[in-house]
Amino acid sequence: MLTYVIYYTLQKKQQPNMQNPISQIRKRFENVPVNSDWCFKNVRSTEQWTHGYHRYPAKFLPNLVKKLIEEYTHPDETIADLFAGCGTTLVEAKVHGRVSVGVDINPVAELITKAKTKPIEPILLANKFKDLESRLLSFNPAKSKKLSLHERIDYWFFPEHKYKIAFLYERILRLHNEDLRTFFLVALSNVLKNCSKWLQSSTKPQIDPRKKPIDPFIAFRRQAKQMIKKNREFYEALQKENFIDTSCEIRLEDARNTTIESDSIGSIITSPPYVTSYEYADIHQLTGFWFEYIADLVGFRKNFIGTFYSLKQETDSVSFIGQEIINQLLVKDKRTAKEVANYFNDMHAVTQEMHRILKPGGHTCLVIGNTTFLEVKIKSAEVFSELLELSGFTLVEIIKRSIPHKLIPTIRDRITGKFAKLENKQSQLVYPEEYIIVAKKK
Ligand SMILES: C[S@@+](CC[C@H](N)C(=O)[O-])C[C@H]1O[C@@H](n2cnc3c(N)ncnc32)[C@H](O)[C@@H]1O
Repeated sequence: MLTYVIYYTLQKKQQPNMQNPISQIRKRFENVPVNSDWCFKNVRSTEQWTHGYHRYPAKFLPNLVKKLIEEYTHPDETIADLFAGCGTTLVEAKVHGRVSVGVDINPVAELITKAKTKPIEPILLANKFKDLESRLLSFNPAKSKKLSLHERIDYWFFPEHKYKIAFLYERILRLHNEDLRTFFLVALSNVLKNCSKWLQSSTKPQIDPRKKPIDPFIAFRRQAKQMIKKNREFYEALQKENFIDTSCEIRLEDARNTTIESDSIGSIITSPPYVTSYEYADIHQLTGFWFEYIADLVGFRKNFIGTFYSLKQETDSVSFIGQEIINQLLVKDKRTAKEVANYFNDMHAVTQEMHRILKPGGHTCLVIGNTTFLEVKIKSAEVFSELLELSGFTLVEIIKRSIPHKLIPTIRDRITGKFAKLENKQSQLVYPEEYIIVAKKK
């Protein structure tokens, strides 16, 4: 605590010079070249194992996680991901025979991760699917008319599709085996967007008045068949290595305050949410409403780090670099300045939590990109490096990599700050590169 107070006071009072930690952080970022070993330019498929079960914004490139596991983890130690998302780290940990634990605030992430990390005996799965398929023949729309569902479901779905989805959902819930239930719920979840009026090319909740949604039974069958094939490959690969029962747990918790035991984790591999970017609560609302994870969208949004909808009013940050960014934003757009301040403060709490759960000497590998908003450079990677040091970590390595455009939005309109199409003349790149910050608990 004392070190922290001294550090903080010094940074606030002094203009950074070449000797102090802030200047050192800045210098490290100035000189770092793109490392082609971490770019994975020739990777054709991100769909190996169960990675392709469900779309998820800003998910990890599996090869990146694989390399981090191979370089920064030990075989007999637990790997944690505090922003587990759709479970890329946990799937890769399992393939490497490593025990892992993931945390995410989003119940949709929890559901997907459970399905992706629990391979099912292929014959059992094939038989259950056959059974489920045959039940679809008994669907009778006349019997479905009394459905009472969340009003937003009526907003997003045509009645004929809504009844079919409700029928499927109800049949899946009748399965006694939890792994089978989770597997088929994920198959259904991933086709909800295609079966709705939601503009297919958008992650923002927006109706496409011209869209002809796919029939839910057709979409579900197709999706389940693809997943069944991937489950078999995953199951057989794990069985061959004797990794089927390697422990892998996902917890629906807040990264700022987890139930993970202190000093218990060998290494952390994670990618936090990006600020001024995705609203995970909104993006997953179709599954959220159908599977009754969301009763009130406004309340649901608040716990997500990086959300636009936080009501916190602070504009102070313990990070010197963070404070400079907030001050620049305050002149341009007060609401965004508060959003960014809140984001940095939440991430400070996360770096402290990382420090608590790691064993001494353990590494945290944090993958993050910078962005620009209304021409203010939001250097999250530099701020996180400072926050890690403030929380008791030593920076070990800063790796810069270029990222494939399709995995993350990269273009913003200079004037509005909104994500834009390439042909827009006001456009500029915002996440052309990202950083892997590797830090060690002293
Ligand atoms: C960039 S995504 C992680 C994607 C992940 N690496 C993957 O491969 O799927 C960030 C995640 O942070 C989660 N998140 C946001 N706020 C959180 C919080 N307070 N606690 C835990 N997770 C949170 C979001 O739900 C989202 O899944």
